[in-house]
Amino acid sequence: MSGIEAAGSKRLVLVSGRAHPALAEEIAREVGSELVPTDARTFANGEIYARFDESIRGADAFVIQSHTSPINEWLMEQLIMIDALKRASAKRITVVAPFYPYARQDKKGRGREPISARLVADLFKTAGADRIMSIDLHAAQIQGFFDGPVDHLFAMPVLLSEFKETLDPSTLTVVSPDMGRVRVADIWSDKLGAPLAIIHKRRDPLVPNQVSVHEIVGEVAGRVCLLVDDLIDTGRTIVKAAEALKDAGAIGVVVAATHAVFSDPAVEILQSDFIDRVVVTDTLPVPEEKRWDRLTVLSIAPLLARAITEVFEDGSVTSMFDGAA
Ligand code: R5P
Repeated sequence: MSGIEAAGSKRLVLVSGRAHPALAEEIAREVGSELVPTDARTFANGEIYARFDESIRGADAFVIQSHTSPINEWLMEQLIMIDALKRASAKRITVVAPFYPYARQDKKGRGREPISARLVADLFKTAGADRIMSIDLHAAQIQGFFDGPVDHLFAMPVLLSEFKETLDPSTLTVVSPDMGRVRVADIWSDKLGAPLAIIHKRRDPLVPNQVSVHEIVGEVAGRVCLLVDDLIDTGRTIVKAAEALKDAGAIGVVVAATHAVFSDPAVEILQSDFIDRVVVTDTLPVPEEKRWDRLTVLSIAPLLARAITEVFEDGSVTSMFDGAA
């Protein structure tokens, strides 16, 4: 039987949807366990089915899914798996959603808009989830949408490991590509001992994914700029920011982002001459055809595995971040 038996009757069980099997398998390896064999399929009309091939009764179950495209299908699959776990008498169910689906729809910006991130939290709850684990939520207050514990993890230690050795704080400026990222960029600037700059970005509310840069606040001329963002979707935010930074005299632009959504035309435009290097994690799958020589993809599995172990053993997730939270 898959899983780890703890003293007493505790049993850790890992199950995974079909969106990003490589990540789920690596998490299981890091935890020292195996994924429960699962029969997950899609019927001809698009309906999804999932059944676990082993008993789940009494288990502390973690249901892993990566919300890549087609995001609605993978969300639905995860909900169905939660339902199956609940009906199979799992003792506790934790949603592991490294990239929280619909996180950008976290408030009403204009009248008659939905708050879809809240809806997703309600769906997880209704399906039977007891807790959620996610990484670099677009807005930390999404935690409050879910009526239960949310383990909000940070990819910063993973991304930082890639930069600490290579960037010189005396010539480095950490840059937030918009107002929403300022708090996170500020933590990066503290950690690296480098000053902070902020870009004032505008979006056209009527055209999705269109951005323009209005102003840069902070010293960037003659400096290497490290742009930090939670996600790169079409890449327009980052490329426009990089272009503005180079125009303002930056001598280099490197990018660190947690979630590589990489919708078209991200892969094409991120290879622009304005950007020297892009570093992301694999919270979402990054297939070979979406990789290029100046892109580094770091494994997020050790971080998730450690958090899962801490939750299972009633340890501390906060202690993993050394005050970064
Ligand atoms: C914005 O608030 C986010 O932090 C990202 O900067 C944005 O969603 C990325 O989208 P895109 O890559 O399409 O500009």
